[in-house]
Amino acid sequence: MWGGSPGPLGAKAPPRIDGNAMASLSQKDLLSVEQLSVDDINLILDTAESLREVSARPVKKVPTLRGKTVINLFFEPSTRTRSSFELAEKRLSADILNFSASTSSVSKGETLLDTAHNLEAMAPDIIVIRHEAAGASHLLGRECRSSVVNAGDGMHEHPTQALLDALTVRSVKGRLEGLKVAIIGDITHSRVARSDTILFHKMDADVWVCGPPTLIPWDFDKLGCTICRRMEEAIDGADVIMMLRMQVERQNEAFVPSTREYYNFYGLTRERMRLAKKDTIVMHPGPMNRGVEIDSDVADADYSVILNQVANGVATRMAVLYLLSGNAGLKLKRSSR
Ligand code: CP
Repeated sequence: MWGGSPGPLGAKAPPRIDGNAMASLSQKDLLSVEQLSVDDINLILDTAESLREVSARPVKKVPTLRGKTVINLFFEPSTRTRSSFELAEKRLSADILNFSASTSSVSKGETLLDTAHNLEAMAPDIIVIRHEAAGASHLLGRECRSSVVNAGDGMHEHPTQALLDALTVRSVKGRLEGLKVAIIGDITHSRVARSDTILFHKMDADVWVCGPPTLIPWDFDKLGCTICRRMEEAIDGADVIMMLRMQVERQNEAFVPSTREYYNFYGLTRERMRLAKKDTIVMHPGPMNRGVEIDSDVADADYSVILNQVANGVATRMAVLYLLSGNAGLKLKRSSR
């Protein structure tokens, strides 16, 4: 049980969390999926599922993080992650400070670390950071007293995206274990591909990655997936198709001959969806480039759960903030995998 302490909804313990399940993460940061054990992942997903009740209520706020301060430190553009963290914080009644790099002293040459130390002097409890450099959140986690949550660091990881993706799949399919998850697109430059592959593999899904040879690292299968080049092979028997956009902002050379050629080989069209199973779901972390990696009539079809992913982002981030703020119980361990 919750050890007598109130659950995220207040006095009422949330459903689905039982036995010796832990109500908090005692490790102070959430920096990567790699650091999470299967138990950690299940705890976050179960908590997010119980917190979805809050989002469905007419009065959406709970006092769980009242008196806590969260700083949203975004050095890169974001629509979904930033908005859903902010909504999650508001629904948990936290005090919020939104930091924008373009209007801060970063534009006058202040370093990431100096910026973080100065913000820390104002005594926040949690810092949510998105940064273009891989490892930026790890640096802050090491240097800061506050809990640090990685909201995407360069080409490295995007742990809360993978968690919300897993929540979405589990909600629709009832499980993660044994599902074929096909991740298609620019794998090399995608932090989502990396976090999703690690997470779904940990949860015993059968992960396939597919894309042009120039956009898949040669050793990506070490993360626990099958690499294939032909989209038809990836789609065949897939329960989940996860499309990724070309991360052009991280590409410093041409990796495909043209957008048209990329679409011809790796675009998800209605014709290609005819190869899929009847109950296959289509996902995309966003932002989408319609007509490049995915056609509009696929993105907007009944089998698309792209907006479910966005909705689940709020509950997932509420769960992460709630569990990090507890400071008791679970010690995050390195997974044995
Ligand atoms: N999925 C995702 O990270 O989207 P944003 O870049 O809009 O936050």
